[in-house]
Amino acid sequence: MVQRQDATFTEWRAESDSPRAQSTTTNRGQRQIMEISIRLARSSDLKDYTNLLQKTYQEAYTNKKLGLTQNLFSREVFSTKDTQNYLKSNLRQSAKQKTWLVFIGSKLIGSITAANKENECELKGFYVATKFQSRGIGKMLFKHAFDFSKRRDMVLDLYAHNRKTINIYRKWGFRVDKKKGVIYSHWPEWPEGLRAKRIYMRLSSRTSA
Ligand SMILES: CC(C)(COP(=O)(O)OP(=O)(O)OC[C@H]1O[C@@H](n2cnc3c(N)ncnc32)[C@H](O)[C@@H]1OP(=O)(O)O)[C@@H](O)C(=O)NCCC(=O)NCCS
Repeated sequence: MVQRQDATFTEWRAESDSPRAQSTTTNRGQRQIMEISIRLARSSDLKDYTNLLQKTYQEAYTNKKLGLTQNLFSREVFSTKDTQNYLKSNLRQSAKQKTWLVFIGSKLIGSITAANKENECELKGFYVATKFQSRGIGKMLFKHAFDFSKRRDMVLDLYAHNRKTINIYRKWGFRVDKKKGVIYSHWPEWPEGLRAKRIYMRLSSRTSA
């Protein structure tokens, strides 16, 4: 029988797309309830999408011990032609690829891209603005990607020092794909010789039994 193997994952699928509203604090310290909305990305989202990813990369991936300083994920690095082309390609919708964006009011606070290949679905550009993390928004985005994957294995790669997110994926049933080994990232703008280790993870669509 073909079924998802992770019980926790199945449980949350039964929930609605909660949360639909988030409380935020205004400059004056007042609590406000803001509506959350989710929609497919458009090419005109590029500027906000770039800002979301740039800030979240900088906050999530900077690591002194590894030599990954803030300026390696600066606005300048994100505005290079190569990076802009990569981001634009994520915003392109097709029968095989979809990107969803989450907004609070008109502010973009989260994104996910799912790209279906023959046997697997690749997850890319999965980011929730730091201030809004750990409130269920990532799970809501992931549900869209999961449904789109139509029972394919889900695969992704991420920085090996990103322990928090590795633990989130493990909770959802992903496991490190040891067969694929590791890769080392080096962005052209980084100092020569600086590399950051990345690992692959996979959510298998079949039980082994
Ligand atoms: C990964 C990310 C998109 C998840 O979004 P999020 O809104 O923070 O996730 P959620 O609030 O929906 O939490 C998802 C699950 O992780 C758990 N979780 C949240 N914060 C956690 C933490 N610090 N440690 C362990 N588990 C955590 C939640 O309890 C929830 O568990 P559940 O599914 O059993 O309910 C977001 O944290 C992020 O942008 N991280 C930095 C960038 C990144 O690593 N992106 C992924 C690149 S591959």
